[in-house]
Amino acid sequence: MLTKVNKLREYFISLIDEAETGDELQTLKVSSLGKKGEVTALLKTLGGMSPEERKAAGESVNSLKNELEERFEIKSKQLKDRQNSITEQSDTLDVTLPASGRRAGVFHPVAETYHEIIDIMVGIGFSVALGPEIEEDFYNFEALNIPKSHPARDMQDTFYFPPTAEHPEGKLLRTHTSPVQIRSMLKYGAPLRVVCPGKVYRRDNDPTHSPMFNQLEGLLVDEDVAFADMKGCLQVLMNNFFGKTLRNRYRASYFPFTEPSMEMDVECFECGGRNPDCRICKGTGWLEVCGMGMVHPDVLRAGGIDPSEYNGFAWGMGLDRMAMLKYGISDLRIMFDGSLQNSNFTGGE
Ligand code: DAH
Repeated sequence: MLTKVNKLREYFISLIDEAETGDELQTLKVSSLGKKGEVTALLKTLGGMSPEERKAAGESVNSLKNELEERFEIKSKQLKDRQNSITEQSDTLDVTLPASGRRAGVFHPVAETYHEIIDIMVGIGFSVALGPEIEEDFYNFEALNIPKSHPARDMQDTFYFPPTAEHPEGKLLRTHTSPVQIRSMLKYGAPLRVVCPGKVYRRDNDPTHSPMFNQLEGLLVDEDVAFADMKGCLQVLMNNFFGKTLRNRYRASYFPFTEPSMEMDVECFECGGRNPDCRICKGTGWLEVCGMGMVHPDVLRAGGIDPSEYNGFAWGMGLDRMAMLKYGISDLRIMFDGSLQNSNFTGGE
């Protein structure tokens, strides 16, 4: 009898401890102390015992019954208290908790690049000048030393508007930001330091060319400007933009509006030329970043500046390309695609 009582004690006490709800507790109470409960069944067996047996067994079954009753009561109070505190918590609003918030948006990589480069250039004394995207032939080509028959026009085929009475030559979508050089010289004269960002258009469309893209032009005009000034200025720009001191190299090139003309490469900021499989420089160790040169005297003249008094340098770079290099984006077209699925850009926080 005693072992049976002890087993039942152990069994029910552990179940009472584990009970999570009032309903669970109630079911346990019925199965132990209820009419057909196991403890009640034990009590019923007392009637068939001899008086001595009954005395000892009765004491132990009754003490089990009392103990379980007490435990049920304590547990039921605990469960009620817990329920009350949960309800209380959900009724209180803690206004000091941080808001669950929304994911903040970020600038488009090209906009980010645009702002970064302008900040750097403004920091070294350049102003920002803007020009129209629908441009006149004169500013886009003629004044930049690209006359009608010039082969350089073939490389920059664009979209043309029909002639009007006011513009008998017809207007066009500018093919580069270089016309803003002419507009700035005519407007502000020399000395001059400007950067001219903006959208440009060409009749191209493939993974590395889009009919619309973004450029940034730079122009400095002053007395006795040297090629070394241009190199120093662009080194400041590249080192700040890519965030480290990088080696540069210059390759001879040709642009009708500069003489001499160069292409500038910077050392790959990702691998420094050490990784033959580098996804940024494709293993070459160098990144082509811009075209540049000393402003052609004819261009200064077209801008109303006397080339015997002033000279200068200019450069032009693709902002989309700079963004692609810096953020490791491989297809130019995803820059102008509305789908966020293609974008792994998280901004330059
Ligand atoms: N306008 C040129 C282009 O779109 C880029 C360029 C090269 C601009 C050299 C310049 C320069 O000012 O000096 O291809």
